[in-house]
Amino acid sequence: MEKIIDDILAAGEVETPAGEKIPLHSAISREEGNLLLDLIRNDPSICKTLEIGCAYGLSSLFIAAGLAGRPAAHHTIIDPFQHTSWKGVGIHNLKRAGFEAFTLVGKKSEFALPEILENGEEAFDLVFIDGFHTFDHTLVDCFYATRLLRPGGYLVVDDVSMPSIRKVLDYLLLYPCYSFAGATTTTRPMPLKKRTVHSMLGVLPQKFRDKVFNRSLLHNMESEVQSMVALKKTAPDMRSWSWFSGNF
Ligand SMILES: C[S@@+](CC[C@H](N)C(=O)[O-])C[C@H]1O[C@@H](n2cnc3c(N)ncnc32)[C@H](O)[C@@H]1O
Repeated sequence: MEKIIDDILAAGEVETPAGEKIPLHSAISREEGNLLLDLIRNDPSICKTLEIGCAYGLSSLFIAAGLAGRPAAHHTIIDPFQHTSWKGVGIHNLKRAGFEAFTLVGKKSEFALPEILENGEEAFDLVFIDGFHTFDHTLVDCFYATRLLRPGGYLVVDDVSMPSIRKVLDYLLLYPCYSFAGATTTTRPMPLKKRTVHSMLGVLPQKFRDKVFNRSLLHNMESEVQSMVALKKTAPDMRSWSWFSGNF
């Protein structure tokens, strides 16, 4: 499994089932893949995984590599464009890697997730979100993911450096049922304006800064942006119907 990942990343291209070579794009990086791989490898209870957004299958391959050798493993993939835009390459790669324990749901996540939830809450050990990247779409994906994850399971979200997705993650971190479980970072020079604000905040008392940026990812950002973030669902989601936290 990892040989196929290495080959694809080294070549920077993928192959369609018909043998056509295509430049690799839109895929998670090796560092991001290793975050997924390590989470799964370090927790043998992770067997049922769900992924939104497969593309050429890099994230699917890392997840499958983590699941390898677990008899109860099953990976569910939601991607409406796997057989059109992505020419079936993602699932072709999984099959080439000898991983058959997967189901492809060829629908948009906003239609697929409610149907999956109807089959039962808390049915997954890990949910990975890398689909349509608007704020509201990511929030919808995370709403269903929170219902579909069992306590002790992980929610992993990619492209958190995008403001739309960071905003969703900052909000989710306020849920009592979630705690931060890890992240990859991409080092990027901070824009001058942001750097100035940051250095000004540095002179403020720690207590004040903690209040302003309470539990916000921004607080830990320094000059790096988190590209993939993992949250652990540490407890059932017991928020009342009137729960809201505006502090994000
Ligand atoms: C950034 S790519 C995913 C990359 C992939 N995770 C990887 O590591 O190779 C985004 C994916 O989201 C899928 N997508 C777009 N709109 C979607 C929707 N409404 N529901 C689910 N997936 C969607 C696209 O077809 C594409 O495969």
